[in-house]
Amino acid sequence: MFANKKIVLGISGGIAAYKAADIVSWLTKNGAEVHCVLTEAASEFVSPLVLQALSGREVVVNEFVTGPGWGIVHIDLATGTDLLAIIPATANIIAKIAAGIADDALTSTVLAATCPKFIAPAMNTHMYENPATQQNLQTLQQRGWQVMPPASGRLACGAVGKGKLPAVELIEEQLHRLISATDEFISNMDLVGRKVLVTAGPTTEAIDPVRYISNRSSGKMGYAVAQQAAARGAEVLLVSGPVSLQPPAGVRCVQVESARQMRDAVLSAYSDSDVVIMAAAVADYRVAAPAEQKIKKTADNQELVLQLLRNPDILQELGSQKQKQVLVGFAAETNNLEEYARAKLQSKRADLLVANDVSRSDAGFDVDTNQIIIFGADGSRREYPLCSKLQAAKYILDAVVEKLAAKN
Ligand code: PMT
Repeated sequence: MFANKKIVLGISGGIAAYKAADIVSWLTKNGAEVHCVLTEAASEFVSPLVLQALSGREVVVNEFVTGPGWGIVHIDLATGTDLLAIIPATANIIAKIAAGIADDALTSTVLAATCPKFIAPAMNTHMYENPATQQNLQTLQQRGWQVMPPASGRLACGAVGKGKLPAVELIEEQLHRLISATDEFISNMDLVGRKVLVTAGPTTEAIDPVRYISNRSSGKMGYAVAQQAAARGAEVLLVSGPVSLQPPAGVRCVQVESARQMRDAVLSAYSDSDVVIMAAAVADYRVAAPAEQKIKKTADNQELVLQLLRNPDILQELGSQKQKQVLVGFAAETNNLEEYARAKLQSKRADLLVANDVSRSDAGFDVDTNQIIIFGADGSRREYPLCSKLQAAKYILDAVVEKLAAKN
């Protein structure tokens, strides 16, 4: 699976360091050339000998390794590398990388490496939530690092909270995606320095505390856009309605439920965004007066009439306040696709409008594929073949990159 891929796996000194051994084994079994680089502290948690046996290669802890095949160690490690991953990453290593410090083999390799980079922080909750750590992680994201947020659970210190290294299988899933995309990744970091806001999923509008009105959006399209934008180096904020997907690595995710919550989250990030992509299926109506208690079935309420109010049209609002942003809307239609899509493009003052025919069984809602037509405010029309939502996301981002270039 990963033949000809050179992976540098950095391991820093946290209790989760031992889990890196499983990842080394998985990468090696799948054909990757794995080079493990440990901090001094990491070598206290996991034996270099174990990693050497699993990877079949010398493990670097000390920058001053000499011997056959070695020149300047950190340069040798960084050269020709397809992916550099740090698993687990302590608050200390994150801070050092953010500050550009290069005082050991791992940090020097990081500074010398120009390949895609992935980091999986793991530490005590307070350390993770500390503004210094959060700011450092943000800095890494802005520089194009894929940051995989830690999981919540019982930590080594006995506390329960956020900071746990995510399950090894989830990390492997992310690495798989990144390694598979590395060739494209290297030539395609065209969104570095850009802030991209993506909405995804449905909104839910309460009827009472247990029931709601919603739609069939799974979030797959929006999450694919967020993942691709992050893979191309953007700083991505994903505003997501309730879905069962994991936010992609390196993407900051704000969870919302109703259209009005989505509107607030989107508007508060709007002025700071370079690109906004509205893939969410926002409910057009909400219940005028949701019941405070569960509505009971009684002999005399054989019918239940709900009065619905129009929700704010977020995209329209964004269009009316647009300044520098490239604004991308979607149109989910079951008939007259082109006519309705063009009308939405104009009425919502979007730069691009992605039309999808949601009456098809292989496109639109809750499937892994889509067939899109992208309309431009300049009158352009580009139709793409049926493809995966990830591929559709790439087409959309290609069009966005063109618009950004034209605006600047
Ligand atoms: O999530 P998936 O299962 O992967 O499905 C993907 C999708 C079908 C949801 C997606 O491809 C899509 O088409 N998203 C837009 C769905 C939609 O609400 O379309 P619309 O034609 O009703 O709305 C037009 C645009 O206005 C959309 O960008 C929408 O986000 C936005 N809108 C709509 C209503 C509203 N009140 N506020 C909005 O901002």
